[in-house]
Amino acid sequence: MRSHYSGEISPELDGKSVTVSGWVHEIRDLGRLKFLILRDREGFIQITAKEGITRSEVLSDIDQLSKESVVEIDGRVKKNEKAPNGVEIIPDRINLISRSESPLPLDVTQKVSSDLDTRLNNRFMDIRKPEISAIFKLRGKILDAGREFLKENGFIEIHTPKIIASASEGGTELFPISYFDREAFLAQSPQLYKQMMMATGLDRVYEITTYFRAEEHDTRRHLNEVTAIDIEMAFIKDEGDVINILEKLVLTMIKEASHCKELDILKREIKVPEKIERIEYDDVLKLLEEHRKKLPWGEDLDTESEKLLGRVMREEFGSDLYFVIHFPLSTKPFYTMPEGERYSRSFDLGYKGVEIASGGQRIHDPKLLLERIKHFNLDPKNFEFYLKAFRYGMPPHGGFGLGIDRVMMQLLDLPIREVVLFPRDRHRLTP
Ligand code: 4AD
Ligand code: MG
Repeated sequence: MRSHYSGEISPELDGKSVTVSGWVHEIRDLGRLKFLILRDREGFIQITAKEGITRSEVLSDIDQLSKESVVEIDGRVKKNEKAPNGVEIIPDRINLISRSESPLPLDVTQKVSSDLDTRLNNRFMDIRKPEISAIFKLRGKILDAGREFLKENGFIEIHTPKIIASASEGGTELFPISYFDREAFLAQSPQLYKQMMMATGLDRVYEITTYFRAEEHDTRRHLNEVTAIDIEMAFIKDEGDVINILEKLVLTMIKEASHCKELDILKREIKVPEKIERIEYDDVLKLLEEHRKKLPWGEDLDTESEKLLGRVMREEFGSDLYFVIHFPLSTKPFYTMPEGERYSRSFDLGYKGVEIASGGQRIHDPKLLLERIKHFNLDPKNFEFYLKAFRYGMPPHGGFGLGIDRVMMQLLDLPIREVVLFPRDRHRLTP
């Protein structure tokens, strides 16, 4: 059993016996002096073996090692200003636990660079690189911070089915699956189920969940399997209550990221805004038009408009994050609460020109909901299980879905495939 991670071995441990384990990152053989650089989750530690000091058995063990093999090493800590972190280990015993084959499919030391496809094909090895594992450590930390925030605000974690019988976000983007003798689909959102929870008395819920989206896009910001934080909350006054929660949640997550030591490895600096701008859909159209982009009223923002909006918000308002509020009803799904005849109580959250969240107030009146289902030419029969939950006491409610992959990509200015362990897209199904 390892007694220390590399990061815990400090000059203050000088003279102490320790056990470290990890992967053989590099071996530098200078004849009578051999350096083994061991890598573990926390970083690197230098193992120094010298003829005359180190047992000859240990020296020959080092000669036998292949790069990326897993080893366990017992030794003594020695202060050494010339070694990385000012410390090294003089080995007493090297135990080869798992031998790595060679040649390696990827160079973990990055002396030879690899393209993204090769990296994703060998993702287990790609993630051995400290600057890649840093992405996923950071991802874990901002999720922890998000969970903590939701817990503090009374949200209960739930899990809704991922095998479903009908669509929630419009019918075209579902993956059909065979479910015994019937057709079923992979869930594109927990939408209908999280709303049904509002009829149960569990009036604040969240789910960190996978969405399956069957669109055939091939972009740096779309995947076919995505991860999101979905929430739903009841007894709201309007969508403003939901926006306030999302604002605090996102700022909490970004603040957490801004403190993470991983930013050093990633060579990033993150500024945390105090608050997030809110801008009306109609004003977005005006802003876009000022920059020679004409978007017809009633249409959703296309990629070009989103990018342009991100640029304008940055350059003219100094904001990387902004809510677009009051979208036309025509751009939003059937469950969205109307605001007057033509608008809706909905919002999107943009981050540097990419939508990272959508949400709003929902319809809680079953008659209006049925009307809207019909308006979208959806079959009410498919929604009976959902409509039923609205007929026996349903409070006003709302929520949002916040894409975690999108948050990560915008936070670190990376394409979406870099921030997902095993991305699923039009062409990639393994690993
Ligand atoms: O905007 P979307 O489709 O909204 C919903 O699913 C609603 N049910 C949310 C709600 O509570 N009203 O998806 C929510 C978020 C998007 O803003 C985006 O961040 C992410 O999920 N997302 C994707 N990310 C990457 N690739 C895709 N194909 C995505 N589809 C959605
Ligand atoms: Mg959306």
